[in-house]
Amino acid sequence: MREVVVKVEDLKFRYREGKKRALDGVSFEVFKGEFFCIIGANGSGKSTLCNALVGLVPYYFTGNKKGSVVIDGVDTDNSSIAELSQKIGLVFQNPFNQLSYTASNVAEELAYGLGNHGVPRDEMIKRVEYVAKLMRIDHILHKNPLELSGGQVQRVAFGSTFILEPNILVLDECTTQLDPLGSEEIFDIVKELNKTGITVIMVDHDMERVARCADRIMVLDKGKTVCIDTPDAIFSNPDIVNYNIEAPDYVSICKALKERGYYSGDYKITEEPTVEVVKEALVK
Ligand SMILES: Nc1ncnc2c1ncn2[C@@H]1O[C@H](COP(=O)(O)OP(=O)(O)OP(=O)(O)O)[C@@H](O)[C@H]1O
Ligand SMILES: [Mg+2]
Repeated sequence: MREVVVKVEDLKFRYREGKKRALDGVSFEVFKGEFFCIIGANGSGKSTLCNALVGLVPYYFTGNKKGSVVIDGVDTDNSSIAELSQKIGLVFQNPFNQLSYTASNVAEELAYGLGNHGVPRDEMIKRVEYVAKLMRIDHILHKNPLELSGGQVQRVAFGSTFILEPNILVLDECTTQLDPLGSEEIFDIVKELNKTGITVIMVDHDMERVARCADRIMVLDKGKTVCIDTPDAIFSNPDIVNYNIEAPDYVSICKALKERGYYSGDYKITEEPTVEVVKEALVK
C-alpha cells in the first residue's frame, strides 16, 4: 500500500470578503513521492487550495473553512504554519509576496525561515550554500532582494521554501517570471528533487509540461474536484474543454490524423510518441 502524505476531504472555504466559496468540495489524496498536478481555469481555486495545504488558509487568509486537510498524518487545524512548513513548503504564485522585506541580501533572505526553526549557524551557512548552488543564485547572494529581476526573485522564493527541507513541495505557477529556458531549468530541478523521493504538488498552466511530468492530475472547476486521473486519461477525455482546459497540441494532431484515417490508436499527449504517429502516417 502506498503511503498517503496529503489527504483532503470535502474542503470548503469562503474568504471573509468573498461572496461565494473559493473551494466548494475538494477531496483528494497524494501519495509519498508522487508528482501530482492541479489544473483548472483562472479563479477555479488552485491558489486557495495551495494556501490551505500549508495552513495559510485559514490562519493567514481568514474565512469560513469546512472539511479537513491532513498533512503527514496531522490535521492542519491542529498545527501551526511554522510546524507545517517543515513538512510541506509552498512556492507562491507571486514570488514578491514570498520575500521577507527585512533581509538586506539574498543570503539573509534564504536563511530567514531557518532562524525561526532554531537551526545552528554553521548548518544555516551550509544550507544557504547548497540551495544557492541548486537554484543558481550563488553569484547574487550579496545582492539586495529588492534589486533583483522577477526571475531571480522567483529562484530566491523557491530557495527560501526548499531550504527548510520539506518532504512535500507545493508549486503554485512558480515560473511565471522566468523565460522559457529559466523555466525549464527550474522544472529540471523539480524533477530531480521528485526522483530523490520528494512529493511534488504542482499547479501549472502549461499543459504540455503537466502531461510530461504528472503521475496524476486533478481538475478543479469552480472550487470543486471534477476528476483525478492519469495524464493520458485526462487529456484524451473530450469533456475537459468544458473546464476551460486545452489538451496539449499532440492530442489534436493525433485526432486530426485519426479523423482522416491515417491513424487508429490512442491519442498521444507528449512529443516523442506523437512524432512516431506522424512518421507512421506519412508512410501510409
Ligand atoms: N484574498 C481573497 N479574498 C477574497 N476572495 C479571494 C481572495 N483570493 C482569491 N479570491 C477568490 O477566490 C476564488 C479562487 O481564487 P484562486 O486565486 O484560488 O484561483 P486560481 O485558480 O488560483 O486562479 P488563477 O489561475 O488566476 O491563479 C476567485 O473567485 C478569487 O476571486
Ligand atoms: Mg492562482
